[in-house]
Amino acid sequence: MSRLSPGQRRAVPFLVFAAAAALVLGLPSPQTGSAQSPGQSSQAAIDAQRLAWDEDAPGPKQPIPFSHALHAGQYQIQCLYCHTGTDKSRMAGVPSTELCMGCHSQFGGDLEGVQILKKYWEEKKPIEWVQIHRLPEHVKFRHNRHVQAGVACQTCHGPVQEMHKLYLTPDTKWVNLMNAEKLKMGWCMDCHWQNQASVDCLTCHY
Ligand code: HEC
Ligand code: HEC
Ligand code: HEC
Ligand code: HEC
Ligand code: HEC
Repeated sequence: MSRLSPGQRRAVPFLVFAAAAALVLGLPSPQTGSAQSPGQSSQAAIDAQRLAWDEDAPGPKQPIPFSHALHAGQYQIQCLYCHTGTDKSRMAGVPSTELCMGCHSQFGGDLEGVQILKKYWEEKKPIEWVQIHRLPEHVKFRHNRHVQAGVACQTCHGPVQEMHKLYLTPDTKWVNLMNAEKLKMGWCMDCHWQNQASVDCLTCHY
């Protein structure tokens, strides 16, 4: 009997949070640990926010210099911890300010990016993240079907956990005379052909 009782199921989000918090609080921060006083952020975090706003790197400038390489790479926070809808719904969704504050009300206050975050929180304003991947309205796409089929996020989005600043990673080729550039119809078809997934027009169009 490994099934969770309803009470245990309700406790799962908290446990995930507790695990993430323990991960964060328990981190020894090897390179800079000895020189640090409590409450002071690491050099890695200071560098990460600079790189997340690097104007020479591809991708749009986001309202907060948030680094995936730091959060998902170095600190190994799971993609689904922040993009909670990905395995269940159409939209992967971007995390709420509240979720960020679950960690940052406790630390990071000396970082410029976290100060901007706190300003949004205090003013109760939503953070207007610039959207990078967007399909036209006439296309049906569901994250959950892909995630459940075991397609890794990185297959479609590139090595996110190594990227300080996100951008549309190029994937330019032609397949059967179709443009298979990322997010184009040929890109979807190419992978569907290779995986025996449906290529019926109505699979992807309303
Ligand atoms: C599970 C905990 C956790 C959550 C949730 C979290 N962070 Fe962080 N964040 C960290 C840690 C750990 C650091 C690095 C602290 C250090 O190394 O001193 C950090 C550093 C940062 C930095 C500076 C480095 C960088 O990435 O540019 C910014 C800005 C930041 N966080 C913003 C955010 C935002 C915005 C959110 C919500 C989308 C968020 N954080 C959610 C744990 C978290
Ligand atoms: C089969 C390719 C594919 C896979 C696998 C995939 N994505 Fe996406 N993702 C897309 C496409 C296409 C869009 C644009 C969706 C749209 O415009 O409706 C997108 C959009 C997004 C967005 C923007 C916000 C939104 O909801 O539209 C986020 C965040 C995201 N993906 C995160 C993830 C994460 C995290 C994973 C892994 C758990 C993942 N994706 C797996 C193709 C993929
Ligand atoms: C701590 C929270 C956090 C974690 C962990 C996280 N993300 Fe994100 N993600 C964000 C935020 C905030 C944005 C919007 C800002 C940006 O684009 O950098 C975002 C944006 C994205 C986008 C671009 C969405 C668009 O606009 O099209 C993709 C793709 C994405 N994340 C994938 C991933 C993948 C894959 C992982 C795991 C390897 C991951 N994320 C882990 C918070 C997170
Ligand atoms: C990297 C491979 C890959 C890419 C790229 C990809 N898909 Fe898929 N897709 C799959 C696989 C594998 C399945 C089969 C899932 C299953 O059998 O449940 C699937 C299933 C689907 C389904 C559900 C089909 C059903 O029977 O209900 C839709 C809708 C879909 N994809 C749309 C798209 C669209 C639109 C794009 C391009 C924007 C896209 N996919 C890109 C691999 C991919
Ligand atoms: C696996 C998903 C998928 C399937 C199957 C699919 N399409 Fe598409 N289609 C897309 C995507 C994604 C776009 C939007 C990107 C683009 O324009 O390439 C699109 C765009 C289109 C467009 C608009 C092109 C434009 O220039 O605006 C037409 C017309 C179209 N598809 C027709 C079809 C027909 C007919 C079929 C069946 C033979 C079909 N599609 C099957 C994913 C799919």
